Amino acid sequence: MMIEIICGTNRPGSNTRKVASQIEAIYHAQGTPASLLDLAELPPAIFDPASYAEKPAAFGRFRDRVLAADGLVIVTPEYNGGAPGVLKYFIDMLPFPESLARKPLAFVGVAAGAWGALRPVEHLLQIAVNLNAHVYPGRVLIPGIFQALDESGRLKNADLVKRLEEQARGFAEFAARHGRG
Ligand SMILES: Cc1cc2nc3c(=O)[nH]c(=O)nc-3n(C[C@H](O)[C@H](O)[C@H](O)COP(=O)(O)O)c2cc1C
Repeated sequence: MMIEIICGTNRPGSNTRKVASQIEAIYHAQGTPASLLDLAELPPAIFDPASYAEKPAAFGRFRDRVLAADGLVIVTPEYNGGAPGVLKYFIDMLPFPESLARKPLAFVGVAAGAWGALRPVEHLLQIAVNLNAHVYPGRVLIPGIFQALDESGRLKNADLVKRLEEQARGFAEFAARHGRG
């Protein structure tokens, strides 16, 4: 069992990355193997337009982690009412259709504003359904992120942490049942 938690932005100092790290710790505390897949670590060569035809070798470890994962947790911020371009580009660079077809996916949204990245999560849901992913029904949306984190970058609200813990427990079971095995 391996759950990959995708930090859906490459922005330095991202709050989404802080939340994704906390989610990784939640999976570990529940005894579920999980690791953080950070789009900030993508090799710059992947942004060369030639990558549509031929991927740089350094992209291989990202592709392999997605292909091998039993489930993906996509943690997306809201940028201009949608998901960051780099997250969609990452999906576009993955092998089609085998990367996301029948892959268990869960979503967490992070935003400065009041809607907790509802719009990017809903758009990503459309994409996931189009790619025939197995979408986990429990989503977690985190609004007002600049007020929601403490000085060490952890979520202050115990109810929110509980919802992330419930999602992690449920998604690990879902991934075990619906993964490609
Ligand atoms: C390019 C850009 C666009 C943004 N657009 C929105 C937005 O439409 N709605 C919103 O609530 N927050 C918006 N934000 C703020 C992010 O939600 C905020 O930075 C939050 O911490 C999550 O993004 P982060 O992981 O980059 O920190 C935007 C941030 C950036 C960098």
